[in-house]
Amino acid sequence: MNGIQDGVAVVTGGGSGIGRQSSLRFAEAGAKVVVADVDEDGGHETIEMIESNGGEATFVRTDVTDSDDVDAMVQTALDEYGGLDFAHNNAGIADEGTRLAEYDEAEWDRMIDVNLKGVWRCLKAEIPEMIERGGGAVVNTSSVAGVSANGSAHYAASKHGVIGLTRRATVDYAEDGIRFNAVCPGVIDTPMVQQAGEDNTEEMDRITAAIPAGRLGDPEEIADAVVWLCSEEASYVMGQPIIIDGGLLVQ
Ligand SMILES: NC(=O)c1ccc[n+]([C@@H]2O[C@H](COP(=O)([O-])OP(=O)(O)OC[C@H]3O[C@@H](n4cnc5c(N)ncnc54)[C@H](O)[C@@H]3O)[C@@H](O)[C@H]2O)c1
Repeated sequence: MNGIQDGVAVVTGGGSGIGRQSSLRFAEAGAKVVVADVDEDGGHETIEMIESNGGEATFVRTDVTDSDDVDAMVQTALDEYGGLDFAHNNAGIADEGTRLAEYDEAEWDRMIDVNLKGVWRCLKAEIPEMIERGGGAVVNTSSVAGVSANGSAHYAASKHGVIGLTRRATVDYAEDGIRFNAVCPGVIDTPMVQQAGEDNTEEMDRITAAIPAGRLGDPEEIADAVVWLCSEEASYVMGQPIIIDGGLLVQ
């Protein structure tokens, strides 16, 4: 396994928000980055940002609900950069939220397919290549909704599931030198949240007032943790959900 400066990383949802920032951070640390997203414009913008900073990255249009796309994403890392060391499985969707019994089955299936099964598809494609490489490090994006009842029922279920996958993968693949952790962001200032804020400014003011830090988080504050979790400095951190929420959940 390589250090970050010599390594190869894939980032899903790399065309926006948290995934864009982790892509930038990986590249700043010297990694080659495969930026994967269903949004081609966003993905290409991330590549331009990385290249204008002197980094090296490739965009591959990837829908994490499609196994062939996910396999092609990992294959891009092998074809372009010769292997895979790090993954940030981060692509996700949220919704406005209503009560559990008010969702229909299609809405449930969609949320689970992107947020939970999408992470599993990525792990399934990434792990054999990391074993081939002699080890690796993976960070999955969960949420404060993965450890509490924040967020709607199917979103919370998907994000709790991401932590379960992270823990089980840790036990299954520690012997292969692969570490798995999760980040659990609070309310982070990304397009996902900006959209919700525009739709309901009063609710956003109420949410912000409830955060002890007194502000939303910056996507960079999550990206820094992602890259650290992949680094040698975190070599004994395994299977953990790392809560990064400005103090939201300690109340
Ligand atoms: N912003 C927050 O407050 C917050 C809090 C907790 C967790 N999260 C999680 O962080 C992750 C990133 O969210 P963000 O805030 O950066 O949102 P964002 O909307 O800015 O970025 C998400 C990216 O994922 C991509 N994406 C969505 N569905 C996809 C699919 N099927 N295949 C591939 N790409 C897909 C989108 O195109 C987008 O570029 C998500 O998993 C989200 O649930 C966000």
